[in-house]
Amino acid sequence: MCPKAKIETIGILTSGGDAPGMNPCIRAVVRTAITRGVRVVGINGGYEGLIRGNFERLGARSVGGILQRGGTILQTARSKEFREPRGQREAIRQMNNEGIDALVVAGGDGSLNGAYKLAQQGIQIVGVPASIDNDIYGTDMCIGVDTALNTIVDAIDKLRDTASSHSRAFLVETMGRECGYLAVNAGIIAGAEMVLIPELPFTVDDIAAVVDDAYRRGKNHAIIVVAEGAKPGVTELANIIEARDLGFTVRVTILGHIQRGGKPTAFDRMLASRLGYKAVEFLLDGQSGVMVGLNGREMVPVPLEDVISKHHEINREYVQMARELAQ
Ligand code: ADP
Ligand code: F6P
Repeated sequence: MCPKAKIETIGILTSGGDAPGMNPCIRAVVRTAITRGVRVVGINGGYEGLIRGNFERLGARSVGGILQRGGTILQTARSKEFREPRGQREAIRQMNNEGIDALVVAGGDGSLNGAYKLAQQGIQIVGVPASIDNDIYGTDMCIGVDTALNTIVDAIDKLRDTASSHSRAFLVETMGRECGYLAVNAGIIAGAEMVLIPELPFTVDDIAAVVDDAYRRGKNHAIIVVAEGAKPGVTELANIIEARDLGFTVRVTILGHIQRGGKPTAFDRMLASRLGYKAVEFLLDGQSGVMVGLNGREMVPVPLEDVISKHHEINREYVQMARELAQ
């Protein structure tokens, strides 16, 4: 294999669902690269922007004042066109035209899939896990998860106030696609009576038993956190439980996109800064086709091939803990 040419310009894009902490990550990439004499090009609008050649030069000052801002200053997108080889070819053509030698892609598992496709076509690329879902193999945490969890806990604390005042059961839907991470963790730290996730089967009788038990033992509320991927979903479950007349009236709250907004927490700012810093270091050290993962306290390279082919498992001990602490 011929040795890769020296990297003079790095491109950075954010893709898929936005996650609080993407901005500190962009800032870290830009400033680390500039410190090491590398030019940075921001790509606006994820892979869609790459295909359209939507580029802007980023300097140290362009990323001032964004550390504390949610969302992504580079905008994000879900690009159908990029899924096709034709779209990927056009993206590579645009990179070459602009003189972009290497890419940092911050996004969720879909975005990292896209990064792998580019790596297979010879692009020097490093991925950064950014998704509130925390469903990415190879990293303990993704950018945005901690902020989303704080938002969820804050919402559940508030819902419990009104639930207790009215003696109600609340079904609270959290995001996460097919992953129950946010639901399980929120269940533990917000003290939910029950957590329902797509990874573990449950029956309506299981839920009825928990609600009934909470009522009989004199609780004045029951909070059930339901991951969005769980089946049946919250609305159907609420109707079924209400019909069983278990003592509590039932209400549903779908937290929705509020979970993706807000200023990144201290944890997310630190994680995003470390991931962005390391992404540039990896590229300049000649690594490519990898994602930066948080493994314990260390930042490690994880092959994108593993990231996209292996599954992020739910922590069974946490699931058990959520059950036992809900007594
Ligand atoms: P996330 O990155 O948050 O999981 P998506 O799943 O929507 O969000 O993926 C973001 C973008 O990544 C998609 O819109 C698409 O452009 C690209 N992408 C996703 N999966 C693939 C794939 N298998 N091949 C090529 N590109 C992909
Ligand atoms: O992947 C992040 C996420 O917020 C998921 O939890 C959710 O299922 C999805 O994105 C929602 O996507 P959209 O913003 O396109 O509605």
